[in-house]
Amino acid sequence: MKIQINARNRAHHFDAAAGEKILCAGLARGIGLPYECGSGTCGTCRARLVAGQIEDGWAEAPGRKYLKSADEFLMCQCTAVGDLALEVTGFVEDLDPAVCVPAACKGRIRETRLLTRDVIELSIDLDAALDFDAGQFVLVSVAAIPGARGWSMVNHERHARTLRFVVKRKPGGRLSDWLFETPREGCEVEVFGPLGSATFYPEVAKNILCIAGGSGIAGMMSILERAAASNYFDRHDGDLFFGVRTMADAFYLEELAAYRARSGERLRITIVLSEQPASAAEQAAHSLLRFDTGFVHEAAARHMQGRLQGVRAYLAGPAPAVDASVRLLLMARVPGSDIRYDKFS
Ligand SMILES: Cc1cc2nc3c(=O)[nH]c(=O)nc-3n(C[C@H](O)[C@H](O)[C@H](O)COP(=O)(O)OP(=O)(O)OC[C@H]3O[C@@H](n4cnc5c(N)ncnc54)[C@H](O)[C@@H]3O)c2cc1C
Ligand code: FES
Repeated sequence: MKIQINARNRAHHFDAAAGEKILCAGLARGIGLPYECGSGTCGTCRARLVAGQIEDGWAEAPGRKYLKSADEFLMCQCTAVGDLALEVTGFVEDLDPAVCVPAACKGRIRETRLLTRDVIELSIDLDAALDFDAGQFVLVSVAAIPGARGWSMVNHERHARTLRFVVKRKPGGRLSDWLFETPREGCEVEVFGPLGSATFYPEVAKNILCIAGGSGIAGMMSILERAAASNYFDRHDGDLFFGVRTMADAFYLEELAAYRARSGERLRITIVLSEQPASAAEQAAHSLLRFDTGFVHEAAARHMQGRLQGVRAYLAGPAPAVDASVRLLLMARVPGSDIRYDKFS
């Protein structure tokens, strides 16, 4: 099927296969269509149908509340039934040649490991190698459950054949419940990616600030891996704030301490507990990490006082934590272009 997209600056043309989501088809062909979540909640991918017919894969998608008229739809949820002409309100450029162009591939769950009572780490072996940047995510789907979920990679490497994730169980959440119900090793999954612009490159050459709530730590681990591998903290400061409720909800503490040990004193890692402070013994057991209490953005505000100028910030996790952190940074006059976030909607 032929798709024509008229953007404010120019028109783009691409082909979409039957059943392929319009957003995925455009991105896979190197067109920088607008999106954030890729999974039906944010409304960023809205477009207007000018000619042709679409099929909506998720008529109840929460992102539909951002549609402005009956002929608008979400490109991440809809497929083309025949040739289409569409319109999007903003500018659409070709993807920068330096970015990793997303593609679809199949994979299989290799292993899962419970990190806390409601957080699981899993790895997926891919049928084809994937290049991605630190801080990116992929859309993962399984045959038994409608729709795709965004999961951020924990690892970072070129030509990755295995992706590692942490997934938090959402009460009543279909895919996370599916993962926790019974061992899923060997199950086939579909992956589309890489996606997302909360990416870290050593060329950024700025002090970095990472604020993660819960499973939002996933992409930060990828960023720390990339930064540590390029000795980034020899030249720049790094501050990471990891918010969880109690020590029983904390994970990756040894891995975080290892990054601190590898990177030296310019990398500071603070575990922020919102419900119960860490005991003296728990703090002593993790002497390379700092501990604080309260909400993660409040702790970041306290520790970063006077040090927010010139930072590049990476935020990820539940929407309220990300929104509060964005407000904090904007009030401190950090430019929007230096605030990169993924809201786990
Ligand atoms: C950019 C991004 C990165 C993320 N990274 C992580 C991560 O690293 N770790 C983590 O734990 N979580 C992450 N999330 C959240 C994750 O994608 C899921 O929302 C969460 O795991 C709950 O999924 P669930 O299936 O259990 O819950 P559900 O409530 O069943 O579904 C959650 C999401 O799945 C999609 N969905 C649900 N039903 C349908 C349907 N019928 N058709 C189409 N789509 C549907 C929607 O996006 C919905 O919000 C991320 C989210 C985003 C947007
Ligand atoms: S990208 Fe389609 S709703 Fe978020």
